[in-house]
Amino acid sequence: MVKNTGKVVGVNGNMVAVEIDGHVSMNEVGYINVGDRKLKSEIIRIRGDRAEMQVFEMTRGIGIGDTVDFTDELLAVELGPGLLGQVFDGLQNPLPKLAAQCGFFLDRGVYLEALDQEKTWEFTPEANVGDRVECGITLGSVPEGMFRHRIMVPFNLHATYTVKRIAEKGEYTIKDTIAELTDEKGNSIPLTMVFQWPVKRAITAYKERLKPVEPMVTKIRLIDTFIPVARGGTYCIPGPFGAGKTVLQQITSRNAEVDIVIIAACGERAGEVVETLKEFPELLDPRTGRTLMERTVIICNTSSMPVAAREASVYTAVTIAEYYRQMGLNVLLLADSTSRWAQAMREMSGRLEEIPGEEAFPAYLESVIASFYERAGLVRLKDGSEGSVTIGGTVSPAGGNFEEPVTQGTLKVVGAFHGLSRERSDARKYPAIHPLESWSKYPGSVDKAITEYGRALLYRGNEVDQMMKVVGEEGTSLPDYIVFLKGDFLDSVYLQQDSFDPIDASVSTERQRHIYNVIFDVLSSTFSLESKEDARSFFNILRQKFLDYNGTEWQSDEFFRLEKEIEEMIHQKKSGIEANAQEIVKSSEAGDEQ
Ligand SMILES: Nc1ncnc2c1ncn2[C@@H]1O[C@H](COP(=O)(O)OP(=O)(O)O)[C@@H](O)[C@H]1O
Ligand SMILES: [Mg+2]
Repeated sequence: MVKNTGKVVGVNGNMVAVEIDGHVSMNEVGYINVGDRKLKSEIIRIRGDRAEMQVFEMTRGIGIGDTVDFTDELLAVELGPGLLGQVFDGLQNPLPKLAAQCGFFLDRGVYLEALDQEKTWEFTPEANVGDRVECGITLGSVPEGMFRHRIMVPFNLHATYTVKRIAEKGEYTIKDTIAELTDEKGNSIPLTMVFQWPVKRAITAYKERLKPVEPMVTKIRLIDTFIPVARGGTYCIPGPFGAGKTVLQQITSRNAEVDIVIIAACGERAGEVVETLKEFPELLDPRTGRTLMERTVIICNTSSMPVAAREASVYTAVTIAEYYRQMGLNVLLLADSTSRWAQAMREMSGRLEEIPGEEAFPAYLESVIASFYERAGLVRLKDGSEGSVTIGGTVSPAGGNFEEPVTQGTLKVVGAFHGLSRERSDARKYPAIHPLESWSKYPGSVDKAITEYGRALLYRGNEVDQMMKVVGEEGTSLPDYIVFLKGDFLDSVYLQQDSFDPIDASVSTERQRHIYNVIFDVLSSTFSLESKEDARSFFNILRQKFLDYNGTEWQSDEFFRLEKEIEEMIHQKKSGIEANAQEIVKSSEAGDEQ
């Protein structure tokens, strides 16, 4: 088949205008011939016989008249065994291999195989000759790390087929044919363990989408208890520079109860990404004791790479996430930072001279953000098993102003909002998520009545705090002062969490439920405290004991000993139950008896 060609007629930064010969389609990939190099590019607009292409490489040296070879294919990734543990750039080049071949400064126009071509995998057939199959149906599997990697009918085969031949159990490379299907007309379709999928198209080879309701446990108390994320849901973490977005995502990638983590690092600084790359492979998985990298894929771009590659990386990441979801796994995709991606869109839109929207972002910014987050989801697969992709993206608005278009566009589509606060990070209150401004639409794992009570108390405590800044402590009544102390207690022993403490860093749902009940006892009780001095000292001691309690191993002797001390301390001073807590206490006691 003759592929279409074109000729460069204009260069504008990372965008090249091409006069085309024949028919091309939107998002089709083409290679610009610059000397003996071929620079990968994607069509982002077609008008008549002229197309605009974004180039995924530095455009230096491209000249008018250079030829372009179109591929008749959309920007795609390779899906197959061997993705886990890898570090790719936005075009799925394995970075360590690329660096080995080209040195530290990556060459333009060098594209490597994403997956190891020589490695063999132990294939076990699961389908039988004669089976009627369609896209997404499992033909066999290979072990990949701790997972059973399903080898499926490629998602781009849209009819029903018959299995004509399937390989015997044994060792095969990804290039070997492991099955042969025949279509209705009797055409034979040989299959290997890999196939390509266009990154900008969602994978839908499942039976149905389900509503995400089960929590995606992060082991971060503030999140799981107050602003939970659902498995298959979406959330965003906006925050000013240095507030802790990247650290929060790193902690989450280590501790979250998911099978696979995909990290899309569109770095703020080149150094930051290098840090991630150096640190990550050395981290151990708290659950298996093996390296965390075994169940992680990193897609990485720094701000020094061309903007188009940054855009591609987000789509490459979500496509790989969807692929593993098709295997009945729970995948978490963390994108940091989506603002860099939005800026890439802004740059390209400017070059296309489109009519700009707010802050010069393209008018379609919101719909692009929405269609990215829509690729999250909990699905029932064709074999009845469930898989999920949860997406969490950071946003880094200039000056920490959440009113800007990327934060606002993201807020409209996500199910939970974890806003980081400069005030809290300056005070080193980590994680610096603002407990009052953040929200979630998902159900959590701690009883709602008692968490809502805690939240209301935080509001009131904050009000008293604001008031005290004006009228001073002397001008504040003792009951108000106690409300303030309770809010501060909840904040310091529960919302804040030490991510460097081996125990405190990750807290199971069971433990969260357990200790939050002890905290609720404190929040809902009235105490016989004579003076502010008295109250302050009582809460100081209680806080210290609780922090020690947080540092003990779950259900150890020391854990129960400290718990007993805390309970005794509460009961010595307890004089009753707050009026607004009586209903909750009654119903929770009734619940206990059932
Ligand atoms: N949970 C945390 N515990 C302790 N220190 C933190 C935490 N989160 C952030 N920090 C500190 O703040 C710095 C900046 O955090 P980072 O995640 O890089 O910010 P951002 O990505 O929002 O710009 C970190 O280098 C670290 O010193
Ligand atoms: Mg960061």
